[in-house]
Amino acid sequence: MIVDENGAHDAPCSISHMTTREKLPDDTDLAIRVMATPADTNSFGDIFGGWIMSQVDIAGSIIARRRAQGHVVTVAVNSFLFKHPVFVGDLISCYGKITKVGRTSLTVHVRAFAERLGRQHECIQVTEADVTYVAVDENRRPRPLPDKV
Ligand SMILES: CC(C)(COP(=O)(O)OP(=O)(O)OC[C@H]1O[C@@H](n2cnc3c(N)ncnc32)[C@H](O)[C@@H]1OP(=O)(O)O)[C@@H](O)C(=O)NCCC(=O)NCCS
Repeated sequence: MIVDENGAHDAPCSISHMTTREKLPDDTDLAIRVMATPADTNSFGDIFGGWIMSQVDIAGSIIARRRAQGHVVTVAVNSFLFKHPVFVGDLISCYGKITKVGRTSLTVHVRAFAERLGRQHECIQVTEADVTYVAVDENRRPRPLPDKV
């Protein structure tokens, strides 16, 4: 798994030989990029939805903890949409954007894109979700979010 904690922006769908159905976003932070493997499949051989939810949660938490400047926990998944299936070999990129900031909590909108490396290379948004995280202290109690630097 590649985890870029510096919020790299990225546009790999501009690879010249790729048939691009959608462009990867350039206005949100790339949080993680990971390959879907056979170990992540369900009994039908497709990628297990729980695996994708896990990647989305990890991606959102990376965005959240950067803003919280410390530990965060997931308190709620407000929405989760599986728009398209994910297949073995797809390269999944999760992008996140903070959409709401409270006193101790913040919500991240996460979008996951799949780059399919078949005969027709394509890029497609497969999932989007809204996940809320709470900043916690060393006793796991909610703590106020710091001012944005
Ligand atoms: C997250 C946790 C620390 C919150 O503790 P709490 O005593 O309920 O805290 P509060 O009631 O003061 O709420 C804290 C913040 O969470 C928000 N929150 C609580 N429940 C929420 C929900 N269902 N949806 C959205 N936000 C919620 C509150 O609005 C508040 O935000 P604000 O301070 O920005 O207004 C506690 O519920 C917890 O530890 N949960 C388990 C987290 C975890 O283990 N996650 C991983 C799952 S395996």
